[in-house]
Amino acid sequence: MRERPTVLVTAPLPDDLRDLVAARTDMVATTADALAAPDEALAQRMKEAVGLLTTIRVKIDDDFLDRCPKLKVVSNFAVGFDNVDLEVVQRRQVMICNTPGVLDAAVADIATVMLLCLGRRIFQNDRFVREGSWAKGPAPYSLDIAGKTLGLLGMGRIGRLVAERARAFGLKVAYYKPNRDGEAEAAGLANYLERDALFAESDFLSVHCPLTPKTRGSIGAREFALMKKSAFFVNTARGGIVDEAALIAVLREGRIAGAGLDVMVKEPIPGDHPLCSLPNVILQPHIGSATHETRRAMIELAVRNVLAAVEGRQPEAVVDTAKAA
Ligand code: DGY
Repeated sequence: MRERPTVLVTAPLPDDLRDLVAARTDMVATTADALAAPDEALAQRMKEAVGLLTTIRVKIDDDFLDRCPKLKVVSNFAVGFDNVDLEVVQRRQVMICNTPGVLDAAVADIATVMLLCLGRRIFQNDRFVREGSWAKGPAPYSLDIAGKTLGLLGMGRIGRLVAERARAFGLKVAYYKPNRDGEAEAAGLANYLERDALFAESDFLSVHCPLTPKTRGSIGAREFALMKKSAFFVNTARGGIVDEAALIAVLREGRIAGAGLDVMVKEPIPGDHPLCSLPNVILQPHIGSATHETRRAMIELAVRNVLAAVEGRQPEAVVDTAKAA
């Protein structure tokens, strides 16, 4: 009988998919923490592994691949792949798979909901009622959403869906990305603005680009200084794209009106993190794609990707690591 390929699994698998992977591979169910400090038995299994089905908590770098020298494919249970050192996997010819497409609507929903909540003061007003302030007088006014400008930094699949949702609320939508999206412009979805102009003209600025070596820390004090004092910043992409200390400073000093963040530089953040004490910030625990339906679609795709790769077929979603680097 042909030997089954060894596949390490740290991603949470529903029972039916765990049975499927266990039937077709020599599956090693483990955790990100265990892989970081493996005992002798796991270290041995890592030496044999050709596939890894994982979350972005496992860092794929030279050190990890030295411990998994036969690894051919890493299938991320995520669309993001910022856990991967792109230069290393290109050099060592390790294939990276991800889960694009299936999570777009869920993430676009969260970005749109956050901007609506910020503009209409939903969280402040919730606190206002609970804290008994209503009985003492009316709540401060919020803002009309219609007629404001939403700036999208990045215009991929998720950005486009945010643009569609925003237009339904009467927002004017502008975008910046290094290569202009002629189709989105022709479809009337969004107008192109230069990057600085996008920061300067937006009433809501929402981030929709991947975290790569080029984008890491690329939104900082300079960009926040360009923004209007009345503008809101929304990030559902990756915390690492932002200089978080600079963001905290402008929020604290009221140099922008507020922020909605589903992602932070280091996750999870503790309850005493500086962001948690800012009243003009809405925080979510990186749940953009965390609905039952979307996470099921993501894990199914991640499983199909890893099985195809270890069985010698072309996976559906392979990251172009050369292009992304
Ligand atoms: C993704 O798919 O990249 C989500 O942010 C979950 O990590």
